[in-house]
This record gives sequence, structure tokens and C-alpha cells, in this order.
Amino acid sequence: MQLDAVEQALLAGEHGETRQQMMELLVALGTVFGAERMVPIVTAQVSGASYKTIGEWGLRWLRSLDARVAVPTILNPVGMPREGWRDLGISPEFAARQNEVLDAYRKLGVRLECTCTPYYLVQVRYGQHLAWAESSAVAYANSVIGARTNREGGPSALAAAIVGRTPSYGLHDRKNRAPSVVVEVEAAGGAGPMPAAHYGALGYLAGKLAGTRIPFFRGLRPTREEMKALGAAMAATGAVALFHVEGITPDARIFPYDLTALERIPVTKAEVAGVLKETPVDAVALGCPHCAAEDLQRIASLLRGKIVRKPLFVFAAASVLESVPETVLAIRRTGAKVVPDTCMVVSPMMEGYRAIMVDSGKALAYVPSMCGAMARLGTLEECLREALTEPQG
Ligand code: F3S
Repeated sequence: MQLDAVEQALLAGEHGETRQQMMELLVALGTVFGAERMVPIVTAQVSGASYKTIGEWGLRWLRSLDARVAVPTILNPVGMPREGWRDLGISPEFAARQNEVLDAYRKLGVRLECTCTPYYLVQVRYGQHLAWAESSAVAYANSVIGARTNREGGPSALAAAIVGRTPSYGLHDRKNRAPSVVVEVEAAGGAGPMPAAHYGALGYLAGKLAGTRIPFFRGLRPTREEMKALGAAMAATGAVALFHVEGITPDARIFPYDLTALERIPVTKAEVAGVLKETPVDAVALGCPHCAAEDLQRIASLLRGKIVRKPLFVFAAASVLESVPETVLAIRRTGAKVVPDTCMVVSPMMEGYRAIMVDSGKALAYVPSMCGAMARLGTLEECLREALTEPQG
């Protein structure tokens, strides 16, 4: 790899041992993946922030680091909100360890914003290089915004944050961003446009079919929020970090991709609808990825004047919640729990339920293994209807 003078000095340890270790890690990564140089990044987002996922070893590693991040850096969701965690059944022992993890990140200069939707907090533009770790945020950044990031691991995202650069390979390089499979979704003209909430189900199916390939979708006219759901689910059931939608996503509009030689996978609306099954649930969780302010407003308006009968959890970034305080209050008045900083998958608080209803294809994929509960996918309206229904038994 070609390193400039600053990078060579970092690697030689002239800026401290931690920065040297971080450069060593990035150079090793770049060498394995054939990077020729480093590129400066504008922001980083670091996973491995929940004590549930990193445990004691991860905490010890974070504490051993002695440097500050060079670019605005935020965290993935942690295992609990910083306030009110007792009411959510979090043990004091877990809370103490989680707070130590947050303290370690604070010392590194990381903003203690804990969310999988960093694009609501940090302005990112087309073509900028990032080092983001959360798979759904990576899919959104690459596909919807047209920024460039690989799906980083927690340590490589933190290393990039500390030195302000990342090795230029994979999705940082334009030649690796072309589509490699075409997904033909049943023509919108046939049975009308696909309902918004079915994008999570489509992503759930398409991720399994695409695997590690870069899908090019035809037959869709999704909004940004629908692409957020589509990408999150594909990143969970496959390893999709970039997708294109004909005529919609920025790269698909700019570059005349030649699709003639690519495999074509048809997906029917009936197949998509088949992912949404009716089974009894004892809790409902929304906000995977974290809700936007508009999602919260929609939830508040659908719940207006009602009281929830089953536990209903709504997850979003703290600063998004702070931007709509009246809306949050209105949701809480219904008995629902609106929770910042954490999520249904990385927090121990969702572990006591047998079956959880979600409106996210990503949550459908992760809840069974991470929460030990069955998962059912439904539209937002169906989820809220379920939350307003008396529990069985
Ligand atoms: Fe976010 Fe957790 Fe879903 S990190 S994307 S809410 S699994």
C-alpha cells in the first residue's frame, strides 16, 4: 500500500501507541483486500457498543486504548437506555458494565449517540467516504445516499475513526459498485404498487437470494424510508451492503449499468406477502432500524386516544426523540415504552417474551436467535392493532 507522510508517521508510532496499533490494523486489512492507498473519511459509526455483545474482553480492549477520534463518531445501539433502565427490567450489574463501556468510548471522544440510523444525525453526501459498521446503515449510506463505506467490524470502524482514514478497497472503489444480479419484482402495474410495509418482507427474501451480490431492483418505486427497510432486511438475511433501484438510487441514475449478462431473479408479490404470517404474539417492537421523527408521528397518530394492552416498545435515537417531545409524550400516554439508545436485539429487555411482532424484515431475521423468541412480521398498522389487543391466556 502507498502511504503518505502522515500515514507513515502514524504507522511508525510518532503519534502514540494506540494510533500506531490502529494504523497497523488498517494496513493489514488493506493489504489482505488489495487496497492501494488509504482514503480520508468524514465520519465513523462503531458497532460493539452493547455489553451484551462485546462482554468483558471487549470492555478491556476499549479501556486499553489511549487516543481520541479524528472525525465525528457515533455508536451503534447499546444494551439499555441511559435513564429509566430499571423500569425495563435491566439488572444493576448489566447497567454498571454497560456504563463502563460508554465511559470508555467517551474517553476516546466518541459521541454517546447510540443508533443504527447515523444518517439522521450526521450529514453525509454523495461520494463521501465513511467507516460505518451497522449493516443496515451501511446499506442505506451506499445505496440511498450514494456514499461509500464497507461493512466495517467494530475494531476497524474505531481504528478508522481514530486515524481519520480507511483503506480504499471494496465499496470505496467505484469499479466494485456495479450490480451483479437483477431482482425483478412483479410489475407495479399488475396488482398495484407494493404496500410500504412489505419492503421489509421483500428484503428478507431478496437478501437470501442475493447473498453477497449487489442487487439491481426493477419494478419498484420505493421512498427513502422503504429503501431503509429493504436494505436493513437484505443486510440481515444476506450480506448485502449496496443495492440499486432502477431510476431511483443515485448510482443507478448516474451510471449506465449493462445488465444483459446478469442472472435475473423474479419475486412475486404473493411470495412477499407469504412472509407475513398470522401467529399469536405477547409483545410488539417497532423501530428496527431506529424510527425517524416521521415514523414516531405516524405511530402517535395511529394510537391517538387508545391504550395498549400488550407490551409495545418503540426504539429511536435519543436526539430524534428529543426533536419531537410532544409526539413521544403522546405515544407514552398510551402505555407504550419509547426507548432511546438501545434496540430490541442488543438489549436484554426483550428476552422474556415468547413471540414478538415486528414491522421489520431485519428484526424478523434476528429476534429468534438474539432474543430467544419467535418473530412475526406485519405492517405498522397490523403491529399496532396487535398491541391494542388483550393478551391471550
Ligand atoms: Fe438497529 Fe437493532 Fe435493528 S441495531 S437495525 S434496531 S437490530
